[in-house]
Parts: sequence; C-alpha cells; structure tokens
Amino acid sequence: MGLELGVLASGGGSNLQSILDACAGGALDARVRVVVSDNPKAGALDRARAAGAAAVAVPFGASPDREAHDRRVVAALQEHGVDTVALAGYMRLVSPVLLGAFPGRVLNIHPALLPAFPGVHVHGQVIAHGVRFSGCTVHFVDEGMDTGPIIIQAVVPVRDDDTPDTLAARILREEHRIYPQALQYLAEGRLRLEGRRVFLDPPSPGSGTLHNPAVRS
Ligand code: GRF
Repeated sequence: MGLELGVLASGGGSNLQSILDACAGGALDARVRVVVSDNPKAGALDRARAAGAAAVAVPFGASPDREAHDRRVVAALQEHGVDTVALAGYMRLVSPVLLGAFPGRVLNIHPALLPAFPGVHVHGQVIAHGVRFSGCTVHFVDEGMDTGPIIIQAVVPVRDDDTPDTLAARILREEHRIYPQALQYLAEGRLRLEGRRVFLDPPSPGSGTLHNPAVRS
C-alpha cells in the first residue's frame, strides 16, 4: 500500500535525495508528501521542491520550546497526510509530541555503527579512537539520542589515511543504500519489533564476517 512519507532534514539532503530517487525508480513504494526543515536555507527544501514535494520551513527559534516546535512540525506533517516520518540529517532531538503522533513510524539514519559513537561529529571521534570499522545505522526513533531499535547497519572500513571527510563520504554512499531499503522493508510490513530487537520477516541474511586488516587463515 506504500508509505506516505514526511522527511525532516536540516542540511543538504542527500539522504532525502536517495529516498526521492528510490521512490521515482520504483525501489521504494512510497511518496514523499512533505519535507520539513528547521533551517529555512536547507538544501533539502530545494530538493523537495525540485521533486514536486511540499517544502515547509519551521525555524526552531520561532517556538518557545522543543514541544511547541514539534507541535508545528506535526501539524505540517498531518496536513500533508503523512503516515511515516524519516529523519534525514535532522539536527534536532524530537520530543514525545512527534513520537506520540506517529507511534512506531519514525525512523532515523546515523553515520556510525550504533550504539558506538552516537551524537554529532562522529567521524573524527571514530578515527581518533582507532576502530577499524565504522558504518551507518537506520533505526526506529525513541526518546533518546540515537538509541532506538536498529533496523539495518552497513559496515564500512576505516582506512589509515582517512580524514573525517573521506570517511564521511564513504559512509554516506552506504547511507544512500540502506535508508531506502529500510523504508521499503517497513512499506512491505516486514519489520517486527520484539523488545528492542527488529526482525525481518521473512529473514534475508546479510554479509559474513569482515576483517580489517586482513586475517590470513
Ligand atoms: C548524514 O551523514 C546523516 O547520517 C547525518 O547527517 C548527514 C546528513 O547528510 N545525520 P544529508 O543532509 O542527508 O546529505
């Protein structure tokens, strides 16, 4: 039956674009009804307009608190008939006002392998810590910061000469693959939540073990 999507984005909107492209190409059974941004200058709003979706700016400073802000965001989403909300580079923590309006239907993408490295500016932290792999995570949103049940992760190697920018670019390519896929699994009604574990019905096994650097035997 397809998703009626609302996308919340604060920045350039490349993840939004991957969702729009997947909808247009038939890989994702959804329509982006509206893009809402806390940043009136967000490139994501231009991408929405270019794709024929509604674009709504709800500047954060215009509301007295997070709940009041989210009431305005929820009103914009409901006005456009949204049933599922995708956070895509949205730099605000959402409140129970938004989560309560779309129970179990709010997703986020994070550019690290949660629960490691939540929050912002993660790529520099990943490199400084010396982990061999990073990646990205699509998860259901709960009231914490990047703490909700995990739907899909992609693992990306960290290279010796990586800078935060080169690592971010390698991870972003995978973000653009896993976010439309997670949404399509949701559209197909295949995601089942048990506690904080998300199961795909029927299952679709992922990749095998990865090593970085290589293991000889
Ligand atoms: C992405 O890395 C996303 O995971 C993070 O912010 C970045 C946004 O990129 N939360 P874009 O606006 O989708 O291009």
